[in-house]
Formats: sequence, structure tokens, C-alpha cells
Amino acid sequence: MKVVTTINELRDHIKSIKSNHKSIGFVATMGALHKGHLSLMERAKKENDVLVTSIFVNPLQFGPEEDYEVYPRSIEKDRELAESQKTDILFAPSVDEMYPRSMVNEVNITSGTDVLCGKSRPGHFNGVATVVLKLFQLVQPDYAYFGQKDAQQAAIIKNMVNDFNIPVHVVACETMREEDGLAISSRNIYLTDKERRQSAFLYESLQRAMHQVKEGIIDPLVLQEEIHSYLKKHTDAEIDYVQILSFPELKEINTIAGQIIIAGALQFTKARLIDNILLHVN
Ligand code: PAJ
Repeated sequence: MKVVTTINELRDHIKSIKSNHKSIGFVATMGALHKGHLSLMERAKKENDVLVTSIFVNPLQFGPEEDYEVYPRSIEKDRELAESQKTDILFAPSVDEMYPRSMVNEVNITSGTDVLCGKSRPGHFNGVATVVLKLFQLVQPDYAYFGQKDAQQAAIIKNMVNDFNIPVHVVACETMREEDGLAISSRNIYLTDKERRQSAFLYESLQRAMHQVKEGIIDPLVLQEEIHSYLKKHTDAEIDYVQILSFPELKEINTIAGQIIIAGALQFTKARLIDNILLHVN
């Protein structure tokens, strides 16, 4: 595995990979690697000749009150984990390397940010899209792998790729979970023991709603209310949102039909957790 920290060096490697007509699979991360990240790498490596993984905690996507400064950083362990998944190139630039001066252009997402995480994290997805666009320009991947856990992020990146005709296939991959169902996340380490026990109810509440849909309840408001009261009963967390929307359009719906997303976000003392289930209803 080659560890690359500069854009010039990365470009040299990419040039040589391209001239050998090898396909590039790309996994973008902010580090603190866990099984969720590793599953993306495993798939990317299986489906491509070369695996490029990036680790970059992107300041642009954190709000002023968010956890940029304290976001978990563990580069040595991450190196080992990236290598264990047969990463060929680990791109781990500094903030100065990615943003040598403050940006005078950024991606401005004009649709799909007024719901779910976009509503409570203004500017977040513009920051995500901006860094992902830069990474796509640098890595020039054939396939880029994103987790379905961050469903809104995956949808927004797919839209960006379509709008700007970026020659990359975006692949959304299944959410990796702990044994009790909690979606694995770098932020789970912020949970207290009690919160960790309660956090499994997030997925549980979404699954209950999924079963209720299968039993014929098709009013999103009724289902949202059910999820809400279940979370209130079983956790001390603040409920950021519970939403059922069409997917991938992320539009509000009056009745459950077609492809939908059932999504929730909880704010515990320090950790903000999100999860979702995708469902196709005939
Ligand atoms: P990060 O939170 O590190 O996540 C990197 C990738 O791993 C994302 O595509 C995310 O959806 C995926 N992922 C996280 N937890 C997962 C899980 N439990 N199962 C499967 N995949 C999971 O998302 C970001 O970083 C950043 O916004 C980034 C795209 C790198 C831009 O800065």
C-alpha cells in the first residue's frame, strides 16, 4: 500500500494506473475506520483492479457547533485497517493540501437538502459535495462506493454526478451493524453505556415501522408518530427527525407507495446517530 499525502504524488500514481488501463474503485472516508468502511473497501477491491481509499476530515462539512475539532482521528490504526483490505493507494492529505486558500467556488445543492439531515445541518451537504467533487477530480475513479447508512449523502452525490456528467458510477452499499442492530459509526464511541444500550432502539423503531407497512398501514403520519413514541419510550435522546419520504427523490408523500425511505436521527448527549431503511411497496 502506498500512503500519499500530496496531490502531485497522487496525480502521478493515477496517471500511471490509467495508462495501464486499470479500473479504479474509490472509497472516501473521514477515517476512524470501522467495519462499515471496511465493507466498502472490500467490495471496491473485488470489483476493480485498484483500490484508492481517502482519509480526510473535511472541515467544510462541519457546522460551527459541530465536532470537527474532536472528530476521532486514528491515522496509524487506519493505515493498518486500510492495508488489511488491500488498499493500493491511501490518500491522506492535510487540510492545507486540500484547501491551500479558502475556496471561492463551492457546490451548491439546490434540491434535497431541506429534509432529513440537511434540515438540521445547514451547509453540511454543500461541504460534502464540494470535497467529494474535488476527490473525484483527483482520484478519477471508475466506481465510487458510499454507504446507504448516509442515504441522503449517497443520493446527493448521485445527483451531482448526473448533473455534472462526472464519469463515475456511484454504488450505494448495505449498512453494517452491530449485533443488536445499531448501525456502525465512528461517532458511536461518544455514547455512554446507557446510551449505547438505548441506541439499538433507533433501528428497532424503523424495523417496526417497516413491518407495519407490510401489514398494510400506509399513512406516513401514523407511522412517523408510532416511531416517535417508541423512541420517546425507550430512549432519553432528543429526536432530531423521523421522516418517511420517497426515495431517491426525498420528497414528502401522502401515502406509502413505490420506493420509500424510513429514516430517523437521534441526538444523545454527545453523539448524533442516524439510520434508515429502504423499502419497496407495490
Ligand atoms: P465517513 O462518515 O467516514 O463515511 C465514509 C463512508 O462510509 C460513507 O460512504 C458512509 O456512508 C460509509 N459508512 C459509514 N458507516 C457505515 C456502515 N455502518 N455501513 C456501511 N457504510 C458505512 O461520509 C463521510 O465519511 C464523509 O461525508 C465523506 C463522504 C468522506 C466526505 O467527506
